[in-house]
Amino acid sequence: MEFARVVGRRRDIHFYSPWQPVEMEKVQKVLEAARLASRAMNVAFFKAIVVLRDQLSPADRDALKTPFARHQFDLAPVFILWYHDMDAGPTDFAERRWPAVPSGAVYEALALPPLLGWSDRYVSEVVLPEVLGPAWSRGRRPGGNADVGVAIGQAVLCAVDQGLGTSLAPFSEDAARALFSVPEGWEAVTAQFLGYPLEDWAGIGQRAGEDLAPAVFEGDARTPFAFDEDHRERLVAAGMLTAPDSAPWRASELAYLRRLLDEANGPSQGRNHGTPLAGHEPQEGA
Ligand SMILES: Cc1cc2nc3c(=O)[nH]c(=O)nc-3n(C[C@H](O)[C@H](O)[C@H](O)COP(=O)(O)O)c2cc1C
Repeated sequence: MEFARVVGRRRDIHFYSPWQPVEMEKVQKVLEAARLASRAMNVAFFKAIVVLRDQLSPADRDALKTPFARHQFDLAPVFILWYHDMDAGPTDFAERRWPAVPSGAVYEALALPPLLGWSDRYVSEVVLPEVLGPAWSRGRRPGGNADVGVAIGQAVLCAVDQGLGTSLAPFSEDAARALFSVPEGWEAVTAQFLGYPLEDWAGIGQRAGEDLAPAVFEGDARTPFAFDEDHRERLVAAGMLTAPDSAPWRASELAYLRRLLDEANGPSQGRNHGTPLAGHEPQEGA
């Protein structure tokens, strides 16, 4: 798909077809897209755990839920738990691990060439001892990092490009730690859900009523960036800007989905659909 169309099509999908599995080839492509994202010093800051919904017991799936993300864990066949590895930089530094900048290998591969002022001496006498060493000897720093965000962004767009619905939401860090042997230095960032949408892509609009002007400035923090209407029209033609408003039938769609899920789970589950759809309990031996 054209990049503009991928961006234009992406929506936060909440309802997934629980019966339609996601091909592992597509999952792998999503992970490769994340791996190839830009990253500081070429350090692999993100870690990801791929979880197959049907290999979890209902109790374990419930344990992963958070107040804002419940039904996704029941409906999406695959979730990727994304982490920020707070030890990745210091470990690469300590072990001089290829191919990170801290190992000097990026310089040796001429990714940071002498032309740009890099030299073996600069890496070994300045970058390593004076910049990275002191920065990483201060210990783990929580709060996520931009690198992981960039990787997740590529993963999200790659999923959409392959026809998958996807969405992000927090998961229970404690439950995941217990269930999946998560190392202490991994900080939970977000869960990414993958599945084929049960809802229509066009049901919910693309950010109705949102005006970029109050968020983007030019030259200083008071002068709004001048958005050009002609450019905007070309983005509409390219498929990047799509219908901003929800479809007129969105409310009916939601009501229908609600009935469908209540029927499958029993009405007492209410909005959160806390159990799997009938027929989608974990498989024997999982
Ligand atoms: C870091 C992050 C956390 C999010 N957490 C939740 C969440 O807890 N529950 C949820 O339903 N959606 C969550 N979302 C999705 C946003 O609500 C959604 O992207 C936003 O409403 C805009 O809608 P759109 O993605 O369809 O354009 C999250 C998105 C991001 C980037």
